[in-house]
Amino acid sequence: MSELYDGFNRRIDYLRLSITDRCNLRCTYCMPEEGIEERPHGDILSYEELETFTTGAVGAGISKVRVTGGEPLVRKDAVDLIAMLAALPNLNDVSLTTNGVLLEEHAADLAKAGLARVNISIDSLDPAVYRKLTRWGRVDRALSGLRKALEVGLEPVKVNAVLLRGVNDDPSDFIKLTYDYPVHVRFIEHMPIGKSKAWSPEDFVSIGELKESLARYGKLEESAGPVGAGPATYLKFKEALGTVGFISPISRHFCDECNRLRLTPDGRLRVCLFSDEEMDVRPAIWQGEAAVKAVIAKALKTKPKEHATELQSFKRLMFQIGG
Ligand code: 5AD
Ligand code: SF4
Repeated sequence: MSELYDGFNRRIDYLRLSITDRCNLRCTYCMPEEGIEERPHGDILSYEELETFTTGAVGAGISKVRVTGGEPLVRKDAVDLIAMLAALPNLNDVSLTTNGVLLEEHAADLAKAGLARVNISIDSLDPAVYRKLTRWGRVDRALSGLRKALEVGLEPVKVNAVLLRGVNDDPSDFIKLTYDYPVHVRFIEHMPIGKSKAWSPEDFVSIGELKESLARYGKLEESAGPVGAGPATYLKFKEALGTVGFISPISRHFCDECNRLRLTPDGRLRVCLFSDEEMDVRPAIWQGEAAVKAVIAKALKTKPKEHATELQSFKRLMFQIGG
C-alpha cells in the first residue's frame, strides 16, 4: 500500500468529497437564504469522474473517504455513489456527513450499499431554535434520521453541533441525548470561514468555556471515543450510552495532526480549509488514475504548515467545501 505525505511529513490518508453545494436547509451561519448561484450541472463532477479520482487517491495512499456537501443526500443517486466507493478495493472506511433530513428514507439503503458510519449535523434539539437556525428545518426529521441510522447498524453515529452563543451554548439537551442513545455528540467551535458575517468574537463559544459548564450535569469520565475520532477528544457521562466530544479548530489548532485533503463538487482539490489555494484536477481525472496520483502529490507540496484563524474572506463558503 502506498503512503502519502505532505511537505511537512504529515501522513495524508483522509479525503473529504463534497458531492454537491446544494442543500435542503439554510443554516444561518453557513448559507445565505437566497441568491445562491446554482452551479450548472455540467460543472459538478460526474460519478464516473469521482470514481476515477477516488481510485487514483486510494492508489496514492488515501484509505478513508467521507462524502459531504452541501447536503450530499440531495444529490440524485447518492446511495449509488456510496456503493461505488464502498466497492473500491483498499477503501474500507466510507462515511457520510449529512443534516439527517433525508436519512430516515435512505439509511437502510446506505447501510446496504456499504456505508460504515454517519455524522449528523444537528445544532439544536429545540424545535423552535432548530427551525430558526436552519430557516425551515424540522428537528424531528433529523432525529428520525438519527434513530434510523442506529436501527440499521451504522456505527458509530455522531452528532455535530457548531457552538453558537445564545443558540446552543446550553448543552443539557445534547447531554440527555447521550443518555438516551449510543451517539457521540461533538461540539465544534464556530470557524470564521467564508464571507459570512455570522462569526464574531463576542458570539464565539470556545470548547474551554463549554467544558467548564459540563461538570454540573454529572460525573465525567475520560473516553477514547468512537472510531474515526479525528481531531476530536471525548468524555463520557458515567451512566450515559454515548459520549460528548470536542473539536476546537480555533482555540487549539490541530494543523500538526492534519491528515486530510478536500475535493470540491466542481473538481478542485483543496489542501487546507483555511486557504483559498486550490487546484483544478479535472484535466488529471480525464487522463486517468495515474495522472490523479501525480496531481495529488503535487498539490500536497502546497499544503501549508498551519493556518491563520482571523476572519478572512474566502472565495468559497463552507457549503461549497463541505466542512
Ligand atoms: N464553523 C464550524 N463548522 C461549520 N460547519 C459549517 N460551517 C461551519 C463553520 N463556520 C459544519 C456544519 C457541519 C460540518 C460539515 O461543518 O454544521 O456539521
Ligand atoms: Fe446545509 Fe449543513 Fe450548511 Fe446547514 S450547515 S445549510 S445543513 S450544508
